[in-house]
Amino acid sequence: MKRIVVMISGSGSNLQTLIEQIHLKDVNANIVCVISNKPDAYGLTRAEDAGIPNICVDSTLSGRDREAYDQLLIDTIEIYQPDLIVLAGFMRILTDEFVANYLGRLVNIHPSLLPKYKGLNTHQRAIDNGDIEHGVSVHFVTPKLDDGPVIIQAKVPIFVDDDADILAQRVQVQEHHIYPLVVKWFVEERLTMCSGKAMMDGQLLGMNGFACDE
Ligand code: GAR
Repeated sequence: MKRIVVMISGSGSNLQTLIEQIHLKDVNANIVCVISNKPDAYGLTRAEDAGIPNICVDSTLSGRDREAYDQLLIDTIEIYQPDLIVLAGFMRILTDEFVANYLGRLVNIHPSLLPKYKGLNTHQRAIDNGDIEHGVSVHFVTPKLDDGPVIIQAKVPIFVDDDADILAQRVQVQEHHIYPLVVKWFVEERLTMCSGKAMMDGQLLGMNGFACDE
């Protein structure tokens, strides 16, 4: 069975849906460790409740530069020998060295329709821009922030009275559908990254990923 490490910084609702899909045997994989960079991340409690090894590699401690911190992450991850690393709300920029080490087996979920709104505050930026739709992307991670090849996106409407919190909740419903699906595809060896492109069943995916409507 494929081995997965999930990295989080916060609530861990995406982690939770992945745990549930694995329990339901929809995703045939084993979460071998959950790593948080924050000691108070609720996702650590979710992992503990599910009986999954969980570790905080604390990025809030002073005296660690980015390179040293990411090396510590690598050293921790290597203990678990994962086939796939799932970034599920891990809110740190990773070094090029870290990304290179796990290229092709490192995926991220980002709350926007990439390439729109890389970085932070995506929901508010979509509202401020007057967009009528928004969404979420799952992508392979490459060294440039939020720039790796998209695997799948899901769209939601933006309504006139929306604030960022309501919009984030609407997007999260979609996150919980698409992220376990991507993990399922990966562990079934249907999904790969090849020469910087995402491929499903041997076919190159377009810039909007699987099931794009354009
Ligand atoms: C998710 O909404 C995810 O899209 C976002 O963090 C949230 C984590 O929620 N990720 C990013 O913003 C990455 N740039 P969760 O902890 O409840 O899964």
